[in-house]
Amino acid sequence: MTGTASVDHTSVAASAPAEAIHIENLHKTFGQLHVLKGVSLSARDGEVVAIIGGSGSGKSTLLRCINCLENPTSGTIRVNGEEIRLKPDGEGGLMPADRRQIERIRSRLGMVFQSFNLWSHRTLIENVIEVPVHVLGVPRAEAVATAERLLERVGLAEKRDVYPAFLSGGQQQRAAIARALAIQPRVMLFDEPTSALDPELVGEVLKVIGDLATEGRTMVLVTHEMKFAREVASHVVYLWNGLVEEEGPPEQIFGAPRSERLQQFLRTVS
Ligand SMILES: Nc1ncnc2c1ncn2[C@@H]1O[C@H](COP(=O)(O)OP(=O)(O)OP(=O)(O)O)[C@@H](O)[C@H]1O
Ligand SMILES: [Mg+2]
Repeated sequence: MTGTASVDHTSVAASAPAEAIHIENLHKTFGQLHVLKGVSLSARDGEVVAIIGGSGSGKSTLLRCINCLENPTSGTIRVNGEEIRLKPDGEGGLMPADRRQIERIRSRLGMVFQSFNLWSHRTLIENVIEVPVHVLGVPRAEAVATAERLLERVGLAEKRDVYPAFLSGGQQQRAAIARALAIQPRVMLFDEPTSALDPELVGEVLKVIGDLATEGRTMVLVTHEMKFAREVASHVVYLWNGLVEEEGPPEQIFGAPRSERLQQFLRTVS
């Protein structure tokens, strides 16, 4: 091979990729409700971890703890090798010990929710440049150039000056993905990104997420699309009642599940 762009995979293969996300023994309670009961999970660079499980099993709560939208009751979370520092909140729970650290950690995570959460009074291009320009201090011209490239990637180049209300749900969700990518996140977190979409719009969004997986992006993906999880995930975690009931490669989880609960869950969703 010639040129400087080629990657020497031999040196990379010698050591395992670094852990982008590492969670240990995470507990979360809401009042009397014990939602997460000691969850451990990790995502190495380049891995796509799919989280599956029934409604109320704690999938969204888990993702929200990674992104510091919820504070765990106990346990540790490391993002990019950095442990989120927590301190007692005086009510038996924990709260961030360092607000600036939370900002820093959030700036490495791109989060895409079920509902699109685009700013309705801003055009698509304005939505995508908002955080880079106003939070991360990226020069506007540079942010616009990046945003145009990202909108092109998700197939929305011609919609750059359109307001979200004039787009289909699938287009809005693709714009939300472009917006999450604009901060150049180390990890993308998806929480059921297609569940609010009409069935005919699901495919276009899964295609964009599948392309991100193919290019080696690290992702943690909560999904009820089992076929998709099987195709894109490198590791699948089945949550049941706030605990990891079974985890493993997609061939095992979908092809030869060991847990009876998982077997039953898969029967109900397929
Ligand atoms: N802010 C909150 N206050 C109180 N209870 C909450 C809160 N957020 C979540 N819960 C409860 O925690 C449990 C787990 O919720 P969570 O949203 O994590 O489930 P989920 O696995 O994402 O479910 P779904 O598949 O329906 O999205 C549920 O019983 C829910 O009612
Ligand atoms: Mg959820």
